[in-house]
Amino acid sequence: MDIQWFPGHMTKARRQIEAKLKLIDIAIELLDARIPLSSRNPLVDEILLHKPRLIVLNKSDLADAQATKAWINYFANQGHTCIAVDSNSGHNVNQIAIQSKIILRDWFERQISRGINPRAMRALIVGIPNVGKSTLINKLAGRKIALTGDRPGVTKGQQWIKVTGGELELLDTPGILWPKFEDQTVGYRLAVTGAIKEEVLHIDDIAFYAVKDMIKKYWSTLADRYQLKSPPDNVEDPEEIVKIMEQIGRVRGCVISGGQIDFDKTSSVILRDFRAGKLGNITLELPDENVIITTKDDLN
Ligand code: G4P
Repeated sequence: MDIQWFPGHMTKARRQIEAKLKLIDIAIELLDARIPLSSRNPLVDEILLHKPRLIVLNKSDLADAQATKAWINYFANQGHTCIAVDSNSGHNVNQIAIQSKIILRDWFERQISRGINPRAMRALIVGIPNVGKSTLINKLAGRKIALTGDRPGVTKGQQWIKVTGGELELLDTPGILWPKFEDQTVGYRLAVTGAIKEEVLHIDDIAFYAVKDMIKKYWSTLADRYQLKSPPDNVEDPEEIVKIMEQIGRVRGCVISGGQIDFDKTSSVILRDFRAGKLGNITLELPDENVIITTKDDLN
């Protein structure tokens, strides 16, 4: 995964997507259902401004179903059609063509009224690295597509992949957008879900952040998994979070000589469990928290 998003890289990525937008009828914006705002590119509304768009919450198999519903409503209130899918299993991916058709109904009607037999809808999948773009393309295509030129700066011939019986055509190269790095909370959430590499932030810090978030929102899930007795009195006190991490380390046998907790090992256990869905279905951010709404000011 390439996370070296220098300004030049971003400009190139943006230009590549804008060139592709000329070829398509609808953009499919892929977000991680566990962190729908943090996995959003900060300029996506600007980049996709003039294109019909379907928002797809991917990895919904790992997210909290109630929270996913709340996010679907949140985006609906902003005027977007939003659906949740699991690209690994293929759950709900058939809705992509169905909903695209509804979004593009005026386009269909215009063609029919001109006596033209509507051609297949053309779509581009866009999203930040690791959100599941290739997995979704492969699932929709029903086979493994060799993705060419899927890194910024690499341009190669593109092909249309016919999916869902030919009524939808996808560009074989997804549009890769950069994540929003500027905000610390966003950075940690991206790291917790594995969207950015652990080397960028220290694994202990990432797990600390995950534990803190989960204590607040999913205490009983965390307590069940790691046999924790009682939540900290003050979740804002870092020492209390560290104590919970120590308890987790002890339960999972992450102990070094002298009985001390191996925090690196404990952290990697926690993150592995989270990413594999072993802690249950968890969504790290909710629409009503209203914390990371991208405003025009954020973009500058
Ligand atoms: P990208 O093209 O946007 O960069 O993402 P990609 O498809 O490579 O997916 C990144 C990781 O996310 C992959 O896991 C993939 O299996 C996983 N993934 C994609 N969609 C879903 C989904 O709906 N649910 C779940 N649970 N996982 C999903 P990986 O560990 O990096 O690779 P692998 O173990 O699958 O080979």
